[in-house]
Amino acid sequence: MTDETTAADPNGIDPRVFPPTARRGRECRQMKIAGVRATELVERYGSPLYVIDEGSARARAREVREALQRESARIGTEATVYYAGKAFLCVDVARWMDEEGLAIDVASGGELAVALVAGVDPARIGFHGNNKSVAEIERAVSVGVGTIILDSPIEIERVAAAASSAGVVQRVRLRVNSGVHASTHDFLATSHEDQKFGLPLRAAPDLVREIVKHDSLEFVGLHCHIGSQIFATEGFRESARRLLGSYGELAKIAGRPIPELNLGGGFGIAYTSAQADAVPAVDDIARELADIIVDTVAELGIDLPKLAFEPGRSVIGQSGVTLYTVGTTKAVELAGSDAGGDPEDLGFAERLYVSVDGGMSDNARPALYGADYQVRIANRVSDVPAALVRVVGKHCESGDIVVQRDLLPGDVRPGDTLAVAATGAYCWSLSSNYNYVPRPPVIAVRDGQAKMIVRGETEADLIAKSVTSASYENGEQN
Ligand code: LLP
Repeated sequence: MTDETTAADPNGIDPRVFPPTARRGRECRQMKIAGVRATELVERYGSPLYVIDEGSARARAREVREALQRESARIGTEATVYYAGKAFLCVDVARWMDEEGLAIDVASGGELAVALVAGVDPARIGFHGNNKSVAEIERAVSVGVGTIILDSPIEIERVAAAASSAGVVQRVRLRVNSGVHASTHDFLATSHEDQKFGLPLRAAPDLVREIVKHDSLEFVGLHCHIGSQIFATEGFRESARRLLGSYGELAKIAGRPIPELNLGGGFGIAYTSAQADAVPAVDDIARELADIIVDTVAELGIDLPKLAFEPGRSVIGQSGVTLYTVGTTKAVELAGSDAGGDPEDLGFAERLYVSVDGGMSDNARPALYGADYQVRIANRVSDVPAALVRVVGKHCESGDIVVQRDLLPGDVRPGDTLAVAATGAYCWSLSSNYNYVPRPPVIAVRDGQAKMIVRGETEADLIAKSVTSASYENGEQN
């Protein structure tokens, strides 16, 4: 281990949190990602910036797909691995995933459009959503998406009607709640659910009875997504067990074995070094899942279905870094024992607020979920003793926090480039224009080179949305 891998070193770049290609240049000591200096990216494309390491994203996509497919093959079945586009989708990323052998899970007409523009075979697209519009359903059916995931009884009728008028048979899955909720470290199993996604597992037989009445629908199996950012594998295993428990009855209703089981996504990643040891290897998750599936199937005496998975965050999260420029810093005294946020109880008397040129508009996750992130100075190293820092954005909201707590060299100062790790998933995709802050571009890096894959917005783009020339139109008068 070099000094760069130690979490406690405020100059260190932990390869379990940053993209594996991120390191400091031997002489300049600046952070490079896939061989490109962070400061060079900021000079060329501005600040803030989303950076995504194409090589790491592709390698991880392959690793996840191969692990799940290898373990499925070991137990005598096969697996389709869908990339959950909601984590981060643009045309290039859809192509990378397609080229690495992943299918694509889309959750709206917009995500579907991106996947189609990228040239993804529609048969390799799964279409999700708890309230797909009729227009979205008709489009999905007419372009020939592989499966539509049904989320309500009304949708059975809507998809059947769309398929019937298009003269096709649409493959459908039914999204159910297994009653298993997984959080990062543990899971909770309940018998009923009170949430907007999916249908109760116990309703599945009646719903499948409805589905098989329609000649325009082909029922391929159950789908379940138990949660996100999950480290413990028990939740997936329990969910698989519960879903398979209904397959015997569903097969009788369908008049044939149920061909597939889709266990959704949710595999967690390390956002900070402190989390890194708790993240299970995808090989272990895949092996445990395969074991539980083959055992359950044997116990129940049912046919082994094909498997499907939908990882998003675990595929793209670690490949992304956000670069910011420090604008101001100020120290705030921590009151007595109320050193709240002093992570390792290191006895800091003050917290250094470091304000950057982005914030909750480019990363809503700390504000939405209290998510933790890790930050490093990218443009230099420093031997000045560490300060307890909170990196905050420029928005008019006190919850506008980018990094809740971390340690940085105490001389962090205006003009420094900061790199926040693991921002590849659910950052650009959840971004906003709060306070009329334009969205940053996304820059892909590979082999010492950089290219823009998502254009940033300009102030002019945002102002152009205001319509000033329109006059009021008359409504209908009664
Ligand atoms: N499949 C379905 C049906 C899903 O609803 C999701 C995520 C996924 C797959 C992918 O899950 P992943 O592998 O990325 O955990 N905005 C939140 C996460 C919301 C996830 C919603 N569904 C966040 O930033 O943590």
